[in-house]
Amino acid sequence: MRVGVLTGGGDCPGLNAVIRAVVKTATSVYGWEVLGIETGFDGLVGRGGARVRPLTAANVRGILPQGGTILGTSNRGNPFAMPGEDGQVVDRSGEVIERLEELRVDAVVTIGGDGSMRIAAQLMDLGVGMVGVPKTIDNDLAATDVTFGYDSALHVATEAIDRLHTTAESHHRAMLVEVMGRNAGWIAIEAGVAGGADVILIPEIPYRLQEVVGALIRRARGGGRFSIVVVSEGAKPVGGEQVYQSAPLGSVGASPRLGGICNSLAQQIADACGAETRATVLGHLQRGGSPSPFDRVLGTRFGAAAVHLIARGGLGRMVALRGTEIVDVPIREAIAEPKLVNPDGELVQTARSVGISFGN
Ligand code: F6P
Repeated sequence: MRVGVLTGGGDCPGLNAVIRAVVKTATSVYGWEVLGIETGFDGLVGRGGARVRPLTAANVRGILPQGGTILGTSNRGNPFAMPGEDGQVVDRSGEVIERLEELRVDAVVTIGGDGSMRIAAQLMDLGVGMVGVPKTIDNDLAATDVTFGYDSALHVATEAIDRLHTTAESHHRAMLVEVMGRNAGWIAIEAGVAGGADVILIPEIPYRLQEVVGALIRRARGGGRFSIVVVSEGAKPVGGEQVYQSAPLGSVGASPRLGGICNSLAQQIADACGAETRATVLGHLQRGGSPSPFDRVLGTRFGAAAVHLIARGGLGRMVALRGTEIVDVPIREAIAEPKLVNPDGELVQTARSVGISFGN
């Protein structure tokens, strides 16, 4: 038996923990061979042949605490929609299938988010053996309670808010901090609650500028001489649009990049109420660095479970965390609906009950 493993989409802390667990479990429990596929699905297309390397226990020694992915990744590598020679989009999935046959790979462990799981499901339909491992700092995959990477990102965001608190207090400023998450407000709401934010703006609850300003004025009147506003990159005003950075030229298959709302909002708040504001955009700091202990453990559990899943013949399925148990679900179920913050749910109500405004 020969198993391929690849990491697709944006990186996050904990990918190496999964790779390590896949290699160790496959080789030592089952005596299988493991091939690492480089740069996501890109490693299986192109003129130079497959970019793969054998992975053994010796190759993965010491990678558990390392951020990023030793295999590299790509968030444009969709073999069903690759950039063609004169700018058109080309389906090169046939090449992927040929390469995997040439390499005699029986199953591929795809470690990725919704985009990679969609590709894995399509390849599965064409006869490729696939199992999925869910990753993303956004925590927006519905089939699993938590994705690995999220906890590490949350730690970075919370620490940033703690640091902003001290300087906000010294200067009596309103500090705005923009966090990632795409269309899901998980990082913003949980880091905001953990960091004692005054206002949290998330995509699931469109805000009104006058409500945000009102919350800051009420806090100032109550004696709070500084404020912390956590803004999810996908937040938007009622009736307004999300803020995007320009998409890189020629990026077939890449999704438009959110980001930039925090700077304009800081100016709008300053103009509306005269508060001194500063904006901090955390960006990719949230994806970098060593995984938290939680993500190392979850990544290890997911990696081992993915190999056991192959051994049980569970192709087409993705490992997931439900409560405290590792389970598996059809890959298609995992990509059906994104998991978003419930605007009326307990988490939002709890945040409101400790005085946090959502600006609505
Ligand atoms: O999905 C993970 C994520 O970090 C999002 O939170 C963010 O919007 C996006 O990826 C950034 O993508 P890129 O690394 O391509 O800029």
